[in-house]
Amino acid sequence: MELQHVQHYRPHLHFAPSKNWMNDPNGMVYFAGEYHLFFQHNPYDSIWGPMHWGHAVSKNLIEWEELEIALYPDELGTIFSGSCVVDWENTSGLFNNEPGLVAVFTHHKDGREGQSPKQSQSIAYSTDKGRTWIKYRNNPILTHETKIDFRDPKVFWNEQDARWVMVLATGQSVSFYSSPNLLDWQFKSEFGEGSGSHEGVWECPDLFKMDVEHAKEEKWVLLVSIGDNPRYEKGSRTQYFTGSFDGSRFVPDHTHIKWLDYGKDNYAGVSFSDIPKEDGRRIYIGWMSNWRYANHVPTGHWRSQMTIPRELSLHNINGEYRLRQQPVREFDDYVRKVTNIHKQRIEKNQAITYDINRPCFEAELTVSGTDPFTITLRHTDIQYTVMTFAEGVLQVDRSQSGNVSFSENFSHIQEVVTSCPDKLKLRMIVDSFSLELFINDGEQALTCLLYPDSVCASISISSDDAIVHDGYLSTP
Ligand code: FRU
Repeated sequence: MELQHVQHYRPHLHFAPSKNWMNDPNGMVYFAGEYHLFFQHNPYDSIWGPMHWGHAVSKNLIEWEELEIALYPDELGTIFSGSCVVDWENTSGLFNNEPGLVAVFTHHKDGREGQSPKQSQSIAYSTDKGRTWIKYRNNPILTHETKIDFRDPKVFWNEQDARWVMVLATGQSVSFYSSPNLLDWQFKSEFGEGSGSHEGVWECPDLFKMDVEHAKEEKWVLLVSIGDNPRYEKGSRTQYFTGSFDGSRFVPDHTHIKWLDYGKDNYAGVSFSDIPKEDGRRIYIGWMSNWRYANHVPTGHWRSQMTIPRELSLHNINGEYRLRQQPVREFDDYVRKVTNIHKQRIEKNQAITYDINRPCFEAELTVSGTDPFTITLRHTDIQYTVMTFAEGVLQVDRSQSGNVSFSENFSHIQEVVTSCPDKLKLRMIVDSFSLELFINDGEQALTCLLYPDSVCASISISSDDAIVHDGYLSTP
């Protein structure tokens, strides 16, 4: 393991900026054979600062090529989060003969001398597949007199009423706007009061329609990230709602909280726009960090990475609609099986261990039994990450995983109550220094960062009495 790699903790199969700071994924859109990933970026430092839109493209969602910065701050402010769409029918009148890309983003202007900042929505367009961008001459296109938190527009074309819809984060709510042309926007409704978690400011919403698996039914899914609030332990995270949407109003099926991810390090994620109909997937990427410590993680001259792109699906589980997520199938092309795990019993003091010694691997493990069991990722002699399963509850303990000193909060146990008390099917992706768990075929996900001194040396499973079922280990 070369020293430089260890020092920089760089991932192999996840997008990370070549240098400096990154946060939210922005403007994710598929166009002309490319997936575009823009991102909140400070090109001057490896901590958050004046926001630009960085840019990367991929043909397969796994290998990314970082391009020039797409959007720079201007007299209206720095460039906060937002989305991109393809204006197929030139509803905006910004294009000539061919469809082009429109980015809808927040301009953020700091207030002078103790005054509140001003956030407004603006657009930019590209006629050369996202390589260069022209800011619209009449920016901003949407402002608000009183709202201070007024940001992160996610725009989509709603076929039902042939209108663009914008969902915007507006404090402790999201607001819906509608437009025929991406330029003129009309307020429709606001949603949030009395629903979901309000432990932090609402940010980075997304709204999309999904088929319910194995049913002739459609539902709308609303993702809402909630910002860090020092009064609460968990830091920033993402919730979702299911419900209906008529082009103006979102009516939720529920008011209780549904979390998108049970780990600490998946925030501000949204989905791609304009995935072709024949593909039909809803593909999601999150920012793999947490505002509680994002500026302090020990990665040196670059900071942050994205989650593996994930395909979302929606399921009706006894009347409750739940999202599942799995790595996109393109991921499978980058790994191949190196070890088959065969069914075997584990008993007291007889842990089974598989050597890894690779910077990056995937494992699928199914373990059953009524006794608790433990899955340990051993990084070095004294550094390890422990997953414990007891009575249906999976806990991830990274307190001994390596460098944890940058935040007291980083060591807190992460926990998920799974759907089955005596069996766990775990798909895990370890990419040098992160761990993504997809639990019971993606019913739940748990995403977390790790900063050990070395790559994973081995994985072992121990219990007083449990059965390890057939599984596998894969590496790139
Ligand atoms: C979420 C967020 C957004 C904002 C951006 C600024 O992480 O706070 O609400 O647009 O980051 O970088």
